[in-house]
Amino acid sequence: MEKTLAIIKPDAVKKRVIGKIIQRIEDEGFEILKMKMVHLSQDEAKRFYYVHKDKPFYNSLTEFMSSGRIVVLLLEGEEAIKHWREVMGATDPAQAKPGTLRREFGFSIERNAVHGSDSPQTAEFEIQFFFK
Ligand code: CMP
Repeated sequence: MEKTLAIIKPDAVKKRVIGKIIQRIEDEGFEILKMKMVHLSQDEAKRFYYVHKDKPFYNSLTEFMSSGRIVVLLLEGEEAIKHWREVMGATDPAQAKPGTLRREFGFSIERNAVHGSDSPQTAEFEIQFFFK
């Protein structure tokens, strides 16, 4: 069993699709171990996305991630990291396969509805960040 961190981003919260996304998480067989709604400050978003600090989109991304409430979930399942990334689809909703959450609910490469940890190391950091 593996754990991963999932986030329902401000765009999806504003679109009122929290319920649909959580339903999909449960339908996929993930166990939701912890869940909370938070509104990050831009400083907190910057700490969370620190690995992207040198990317051109860092400022805009952290501004967006602190623009409204998000729902953070600690998920558990077999190969949870890979499984959740498959359910989310490609970062850019336009490239994401039909049936994936980003294809269905994402708006742009930045406003892409959901987040998921991309490796066991990242998952460890991200889970600690929100649920220490
Ligand atoms: P996420 O899975 O949360 O991880 C980093 C985020 O940065 C990503 O989803 C997107 O929201 C954002 N992102 C990645 N690439 C770009 C890009 N080229 N332009 C703008 N935002 C990006």
